[in-house]
Amino acid sequence: MTSLDNEARDILRKNDRGGYTIPTNGLYPYQWNWDSVFAAWGFSTFDPARAWQELETLMAAQWEDGMVPHIIFHQSDPGYYPGPDVWATGQTPPTSGISQPPVAAIITRLMWEADKEAGRAHIKALYPSLKRWHRWWHDFRCTYGPAAITHPWESGRDNCPDWDKGMAGVDGSGVGEYQRRDTGHVDPSMRPGKDDYDRYIAMVQFGVKAGWDPERIVADGPFLMLDPGITFVLLRAHQDLIVLGQALGEDVSEIEGWALALRNALPLIWNPELQAYDAKNLRTGEFAGVLGSGAFLAYLADASNPELDAQLMRIWDAVRYGIPSADPEAAIFDPRRYWRGPCWPVINALIAIGLRDAGRLDLESRLRAETATLIEQHGFFEYFDPTDSTPCGGSNFTWTAAIWLTWAGDGRERAKGVA
Ligand code: DGY
Repeated sequence: MTSLDNEARDILRKNDRGGYTIPTNGLYPYQWNWDSVFAAWGFSTFDPARAWQELETLMAAQWEDGMVPHIIFHQSDPGYYPGPDVWATGQTPPTSGISQPPVAAIITRLMWEADKEAGRAHIKALYPSLKRWHRWWHDFRCTYGPAAITHPWESGRDNCPDWDKGMAGVDGSGVGEYQRRDTGHVDPSMRPGKDDYDRYIAMVQFGVKAGWDPERIVADGPFLMLDPGITFVLLRAHQDLIVLGQALGEDVSEIEGWALALRNALPLIWNPELQAYDAKNLRTGEFAGVLGSGAFLAYLADASNPELDAQLMRIWDAVRYGIPSADPEAAIFDPRRYWRGPCWPVINALIAIGLRDAGRLDLESRLRAETATLIEQHGFFEYFDPTDSTPCGGSNFTWTAAIWLTWAGDGRERAKGVA
């Protein structure tokens, strides 16, 4: 075990709040949905019991309609805005009112495959709630075919250029006074701007007014866009849930139906002008017209093609480290601002799972080596400038530590699903 392995374990332990793990101290003081799933994956390399507990705590916050929220506010923390009072969802424990990329079934399968005997009881316990969550995505977010999001935060790729056209249609002028907290923790030039934030809060206020009724939010909310990133994550997650269901002797035909419908809908997010998968604004019918890392999650769902390969190599070769979150040759590229250009180890790892499964081991090992270099040079930061490796955002970050332990670092052979 190397000293970076030790450091990564230490970060997970220090961010452990007892049954759930925060993404990083200060900036993100609660349980975030997909961060927590990556935390579980990281823990699974040295403390499987704690790993399964993480997933169980997350799924315990599931709403009655099947939604698994993007933040669970286990205890109040004045260092974060917007907190539970702003979301006002009326849940116990308090939660936000939107979801996040459904990576849980993907990681659950990897954890179970690492030790099927010990994992069986856990997948049996998790399966019904995972299936209810996938049904929620199908019923409430896939009504137009591919997966739609009702708030950029639901995509997990908060301020990526994919959402610019949808954001332009959101009126943030009436949100009133509020005090951002994120810019007190990290350099404001690495975070979304004030106009973006006003609109984020306006969307939350709409959800509160709609009583967080998912049908009303999809029908009348200020923002609704098809998200290639979530679409591919969900498609892969459906497939992995089918495998888990079959192992348990369950009837998986309903999930197979959701997966087939989603795969058949992929042409709707193929933008022929861009020669890539693209986000689409459902309020206007327009494509976003920008290439981002969400499109490359197609590799995770076995949905790539030669045109996408060409785009991947173009944007990857234009930088020095990993897959940039936005096209480095486009005017909107901003290499240190959150999702508008930086390279994210966690996205690299998801793309790498797909590359590995497709037998494209040369690309997978290049991506792994570049991701490892970023972490070896600078430590466990939230994200990195892909042109010069400058570390960005929060430090001691849970999911970067998890990605080191499971995929990018020396201990990766322990994550049997990926090495
Ligand atoms: C934030 O507060 O920036 C989060 O990403 C929202 O989920």
